[in-house]
Amino acid sequence: MEEPHRRLVEAARAVRLWAHAPFSRFPVGAALETPDGQVITGCNVESASYGLTVCAERAAVFKAVSEGHRRFVRVAVVADTAEPTPPCGACRQVLWEFGGNMEVILANLTEEKARHFLQDLLPYAFDARMLE
Ligand code: THU
Repeated sequence: MEEPHRRLVEAARAVRLWAHAPFSRFPVGAALETPDGQVITGCNVESASYGLTVCAERAAVFKAVSEGHRRFVRVAVVADTAEPTPPCGACRQVLWEFGGNMEVILANLTEEKARHFLQDLLPYAFDARMLE
């Protein structure tokens, strides 16, 4: 794996250990890369009321935006699954609004499983341009 991708997947694996997933028992880690190479991570945080759960990808975006980052070139998502775990629809929307057509790296605890561009995961997206 190329160094930026490897570094991002490692960061997603590390933050996954902080996931709060007592209900699903499905911890997920996500790591975003900014255009200047900074990495911002997030894990899923579940609520006892279930519907308030925030996925790892959105946790990472909201954390990053809160720290002044507004553009992302790549995101890595890590779960302990044999098949790749793709971002849910809500996360695709939020990732699109802040990163546009970013690269999406899906990995498990030992290897990279898939690589996509967000445009292919969320075709014909709604975003702020439609509000102009
Ligand atoms: N989850 C994520 O954090 N990211 C994904 O890409 C898929 C799903 C979380 C939400 C919930 O806490 C658990 O995984 C099971 O759906």
